[in-house]
Amino acid sequence: MPAPPRRDGVAGLRLPWHGCGKDDETTGFEQSGQGAGGGIIHFPCHRDHASMDDNITRRGGFSTRAIHHGYDAYAAPGALNPPLYLSSTYTFPTTADGSARFAGEQQGYVYSRVGNPTTGLLEARLADLEGGEAAVVTASGQGATTSLLWTLLSAGDEVIADKTLYGCTFAFLNHGLARFGVKVRHVDLSDPANLSAALSPATKVVFFETPANPNMRLVDIAAVADIARRHGAVTVVDNTYCTPYLQRPLELGADFVVHSATKYLGGHGDLLAGAIVGPAEVLQQVRFHGLKDMTGAVLSSQDAFLVLRGLKTLALRMDRHCASAAQVAEFLAGRPEVAVVHYPGLAGFPQHDLARRQMARFGGMVAFELKGGLDAGVRFMDALGLFTRAVSLGDAESLAQHPASMTHATYTLEQRAEHFIGEGLVRLSVGLEDAEDLLADLEQALARV
Ligand SMILES: Cc1ncc(COP(=O)(O)O)c(C=O)c1O
Repeated sequence: MPAPPRRDGVAGLRLPWHGCGKDDETTGFEQSGQGAGGGIIHFPCHRDHASMDDNITRRGGFSTRAIHHGYDAYAAPGALNPPLYLSSTYTFPTTADGSARFAGEQQGYVYSRVGNPTTGLLEARLADLEGGEAAVVTASGQGATTSLLWTLLSAGDEVIADKTLYGCTFAFLNHGLARFGVKVRHVDLSDPANLSAALSPATKVVFFETPANPNMRLVDIAAVADIARRHGAVTVVDNTYCTPYLQRPLELGADFVVHSATKYLGGHGDLLAGAIVGPAEVLQQVRFHGLKDMTGAVLSSQDAFLVLRGLKTLALRMDRHCASAAQVAEFLAGRPEVAVVHYPGLAGFPQHDLARRQMARFGGMVAFELKGGLDAGVRFMDALGLFTRAVSLGDAESLAQHPASMTHATYTLEQRAEHFIGEGLVRLSVGLEDAEDLLADLEQALARV
């Protein structure tokens, strides 16, 4: 299957990093622009230090950039790993410097709610991997969606969102934004023609996940983004399920990508984090309004450090997640207890051709419905031994959850029916354990439904 085209280097903003004075050699970091809060790191450095080969670290393959982009390990003090900056505030050499930084006339850090060198490196790396101009990282995926939408929308505007969304995104749109005069309409975007019919002069944002959580329905990113753009609306894609290793919505025409980095990007279930990737100019506004003033959902530098560590193994982990999920999906599809399996890699999946076009592989998430409905689902869940009953996804551990009673309980019963979330739907996040052990666990649990 074709991999999405790989981008070469970073487009858009790249602030200069000042290291050795006049000659402006780099100190080892680069990052997307942060204006007054963004940054300069002054390391004591040698003019003639060795440095990573720029061509490789900027233009190499996905894993090379996930490990190296934006950081030169040869720069003084020569640490293989980037430093973890634990500082809430930053010094101004003079009052005039402080004033200039607040006015945005001088580059440099001010306060970590606006920018921190460790979160800045993560931002540079994620922007590069997604093929965007810039990124802003946040304290959670929910913080990414809310910081972006609070920035983009005003009272009187309209959001068109897909019918199926992560439960808290659905809650934010319908129980949050809607209270502040933003109209929210849910449209089945699995057919792009539905968007053309639904757009109104007030539509500012089109928002969707693909694959959607939890039922794996896909949206044609290129087709929807094209319709939205011609109408003057921006497209936001939640790329949590795929990560940029499997799918890069910006290259297909979307304007923004949001992530729950809590999931595959972090990869170990030990942190909460989020990210927004998109045009540098708008992300400046997200940083200075949506994030700084509206949500305050700022990522800690410790957690940014852990996401940077997770990124180093992202490609390896995703390949394993995808391979095992394909086995799990095939296995479930052959079982008499199972009514339907939702996995984009199955030849019988209704949007399999679209999956082949816009995803490099088919991901680590599998959803399925048991013939016995809700009761069978509960018996199955309780019989699992190796799959762990827990929400979240993208961890080393395989996780199983029941959306109707857990992540999608924010929908009413009627809304779930209307939004294609069956009461007996079970969602699996296929982890990194041995596939044969996972299949054995599923087999023994199915025998008890
Ligand atoms: C698709 C999707 N988007 C966003 C979120 C929210 O992310 P977080 O839990 O990091 O706030 C989740 C969480 O499960 C998710 O599955």
